[in-house]
Amino acid sequence: MKTKHFIYLFVLFLMAFNCSSSSDTDTMETPNPDPDPTPSEKVTYDADIKSILSSNCISCHGSTPTQNAPMSLTTYTQTKNYIDQIIDRVNRTGSGKMPPSGQLSSQEKAAFQQWKTDGLLEN
Ligand code: HEC
Repeated sequence: MKTKHFIYLFVLFLMAFNCSSSSDTDTMETPNPDPDPTPSEKVTYDADIKSILSSNCISCHGSTPTQNAPMSLTTYTQTKNYIDQIIDRVNRTGSGKMPPSGQLSSQEKAAFQQWKTDGLLEN
């Protein structure tokens, strides 16, 4: 009688263990299939570009440009008009690179290119 109970318990234990281990495997076999949850969302000036400029550029390209910067990059229209020069400068690594000290991250550089591809939307 006791042995029979033990076998039942053992079988139950095995079943429970199997279930949990197979669900672990399921989780590992289905990594997040969509790393970008909103792939259809376009890059816009308000959502993406403005904050990159504020953090990295307007210390010189402010509404009154300083440190010999030739132009302001504080509005949508100004930024849009300079998009080709901006893409050129942020992707340089030598002379004339922007910002002059350091580099934008590759995501930030890509955001300017994608903004142009998406049609230079304001918002
Ligand atoms: C430390 C000050 C400083 C910062 C920060 C800075 N710039 Fe500049 N920028 C300058 C100066 C000075 C020039 C003019 C000299 C030159 O053309 O290299 C310039 C020139 C440029 C030009 C060329 C304009 C033309 O007429 O062709 C572009 C485009 C530009 N910057 C974009 C940016 C962007 C985008 C950022 C931020 C990612 C940035 N800059 C950050 C100082 C700065």
